[in-house]
Amino acid sequence: MNAPGNEPVDIETAIPIPMAMLAELTHRCPLKCPYCSNPLELTRRSAELSAEEWVEVFRQAAALGVLHVHLSGGEPASRKDLGEITTGAVEAGLYTNLITSGVGLTEANFADLAARGLDHVQLSVQGVDAEAADRIGGFRGGFDTKMRVADWVAREGIPLTINAVMHRQNLDRLPETIELAVKLGARRLEVANTQYHGWADLNRAALMPTPEQAKRASEVVAETRERLKGTLVIDYVPPDHFAKYPKPCMGGWSRVGLCVKPEGKVLPCHAAETITTLEFQNVRDVPLEEIWKKGPAFTAYRGTHWMQEPCNSCERKTKDWGGCRCQAFAWTGDAAATDPVCTLSPEHARMRAAAETDSAAHADEFVYRTIGGADRARAKEPAS
Ligand code: SF4
Ligand code: FES
Repeated sequence: MNAPGNEPVDIETAIPIPMAMLAELTHRCPLKCPYCSNPLELTRRSAELSAEEWVEVFRQAAALGVLHVHLSGGEPASRKDLGEITTGAVEAGLYTNLITSGVGLTEANFADLAARGLDHVQLSVQGVDAEAADRIGGFRGGFDTKMRVADWVAREGIPLTINAVMHRQNLDRLPETIELAVKLGARRLEVANTQYHGWADLNRAALMPTPEQAKRASEVVAETRERLKGTLVIDYVPPDHFAKYPKPCMGGWSRVGLCVKPEGKVLPCHAAETITTLEFQNVRDVPLEEIWKKGPAFTAYRGTHWMQEPCNSCERKTKDWGGCRCQAFAWTGDAAATDPVCTLSPEHARMRAAAETDSAAHADEFVYRTIGGADRARAKEPAS
């Protein structure tokens, strides 16, 4: 018999409580990172939810059980009403994490956010020095600004996480990236290898790491975790094209988190709109709770009922939830297929061969994230 509170949960019928919400406050951003997780079609300012609407979304999220909100973008500091939005999240009882490039913050407005109760800052770094970082971010002066912002965060006593997106052009400098995070006083470093959706997919030939880089990076992380125990926690997203099994993307579809776009569209994953067969609802029209519990995009791949072989009879199916739905759709046209990262997927060999071709490419020019940038890049591609 199970102890009270430990009864088995039916994963097909029980609706989990989302723990975290990604609030994409705006797609405006002064940086142009070529792996940005925002969609290729960026939302325009005129369509953005107002501060008042965001505050209502936070109230609904807290009522649903969300504990943690990531105030993200684009660059959230591009919004002049970021203070009001932060207060709304704090007053809703949410733990607030500001995900920022640092560009657009000033010492005074950061002190204001701290006074309003901001709990945590996640600062992105594109490289370990100004030359490398500003080239990748497509913004001169960005690196120096980040160094100042890290100082302000330390002065306010707010915990800092450094987020470093890694790829072929910076992965060899992982040891220096780790040292930079320690120097900036971060308690946590996210070593996030690029996920190839949207902008990153357009830039695969310039970003895909080599298998040797992927192996070395995993070794560096393992060695450093040991050496810096008690000083720095390293979260590691390995380059999954060279892995054996996929990661449980999003912690499993519609299980632990949701994303609200600048115009209010609610997604189970920030890249979910790449799955063109799904329909999404807007929190301007439908309450958040209803979207989470019954929305067609949320119920489509929650649990395991939708799985095909080999996932359906695999013992890992409630560990990795079949991997990433967006990647499955991108490679097979069917979001219910097994993630081709998995070595058991019939598409795995094709995906691995394409990753090796991309990693051997000598391309180092980027398609930067700009409004209309994806269309311009596609227009230049030779017709196949
Ligand atoms: Fe995961 Fe499916 Fe691969 Fe099994 S077959 S390891 S459930 S992706
Ligand atoms: Fe969407 Fe993995 S990126 S489920």
